[in-house]
Amino acid sequence: MATMRAAVYTTFSGPIIVQEVPKPTAPVGGLLLRVKACGVCRSDYHGWKGLDSDIVTHGLPFTPGHELSGVVVKLGLGTTKFQVGDRVAVPFILSCGSCRQCARNRPTICEAQGQPGFTMPGGFAEFVAVPRADRNVSLMPPKVSFLQAAALGCRLTTAYRAVMQQGRLQSGETVGVFGCGGLGLSAVMIALAAGDNVRVLAVDTSEEACNKAWDLHAFNAKEGASLAPARVGMTQSEPMPSDEYIRARVAEVTGGFGADLTLDTAGFAATCENAVWCTRRGGRMVQVGLPLHGKEPCIPMARVANQEIEIIGSHGLAATDMPVLLAMVAAGRLMPEKLVQREVTLEEGAKAIEAMDTGSPLGITMITRFKGAKEGDEPNEPPAKMPRVA
Ligand SMILES: NC(=O)c1ccc[n+]([C@@H]2O[C@H](COP(=O)([O-])OP(=O)(O)OC[C@H]3O[C@@H](n4cnc5c(N)ncnc54)[C@H](O)[C@@H]3O)[C@@H](O)[C@H]2O)c1
Ligand SMILES: [Zn+2]
Ligand SMILES: [Zn+2]
Repeated sequence: MATMRAAVYTTFSGPIIVQEVPKPTAPVGGLLLRVKACGVCRSDYHGWKGLDSDIVTHGLPFTPGHELSGVVVKLGLGTTKFQVGDRVAVPFILSCGSCRQCARNRPTICEAQGQPGFTMPGGFAEFVAVPRADRNVSLMPPKVSFLQAAALGCRLTTAYRAVMQQGRLQSGETVGVFGCGGLGLSAVMIALAAGDNVRVLAVDTSEEACNKAWDLHAFNAKEGASLAPARVGMTQSEPMPSDEYIRARVAEVTGGFGADLTLDTAGFAATCENAVWCTRRGGRMVQVGLPLHGKEPCIPMARVANQEIEIIGSHGLAATDMPVLLAMVAAGRLMPEKLVQREVTLEEGAKAIEAMDTGSPLGITMITRFKGAKEGDEPNEPPAKMPRVA
């Protein structure tokens, strides 16, 4: 039987070990992909902790990874849009096309969605089986690298929907981004790239994360970055003492009004609550982070009612919108590689999930090396035109 290397956990919160597992086959209507890049997202951490109901339903052992791109190595029966050798970007939501939500053109909340890395084995592996390909998978423009396309698979596309579609960002508005990890920095980048005369307030308890947002030319309450440095990377199970400071600082820089659009891009009680408290009268607050562990957010619903604040959920992006983002990357209007802090091996990617027990990595950590030390990976294309981010 053919095998491949994959990162596997056999118990929730147990060790994630790279081992030989059976190589999958191309599913009917799908593709077998050689994975070329796969990001490490906090949602992979939730899954590993046993907090994702899809992984619980799937059962263990499990291979994570839902932010991926690769090369088609085999076509499943009935797949018509692709050829072997195609370079493709895979969204994390593989919608079904036939449920009530898909019929209403809401594939991001498809009632029967498949998700590599949640409902099926994911991209922390040399190969991954991707079903429903014709409907969901996109060809990568030649100018786009695997690393760039993988960054679109989850956090950048999710940020795009959160800021532009669910958040309805308008020119001249102020956006507050609460939590500037992979998703938050993506939101900062999207708001700056897509919005006209938009001011972005980047909020994070990590000075490094604030500085990274600053590098993306966001407005940044810089001195706020050092307000609780000891708390960088905490697991967020207790209230943040800095909430008052953050709220006061946002009020101060918005003339006392708050931000027109706020986003919880981290998924902690504090980021959710601060986002709501910092939303301007009549503004929109978009919940994108998943507060799955620790304290449940406590929302001031009277304020929501009497100030007509909208609270809106946002999940992934419709696969049909992926080509728009790929075109923005190809045109140089979006630079996902700037968010990639580290390129790592499969083993290091597994360790990066485990390390989220004690904190967040800076920016996006991306697995680009999948083979063992003996074999070595073939060089990734295109020959690094992208600068490594320090
Ligand atoms: N809705 C979706 O479709 C979707 C898609 C992708 C990710 N997510 C979720 O988004 C969240 C973020 O994912 P990520 O991979 O970017 O996480 P991450 O761990 O990379 O980033 C979290 C950031 O929040 C910061 N932070 C922690 N506490 C804070 C506080 N009190 N105030 C301000 N900042 C604080 C951390 O310093 C870090 O920079 C997760 O909950 C993930 O599951 C949701
Ligand atoms: Zn994700
Ligand atoms: Zn559906």
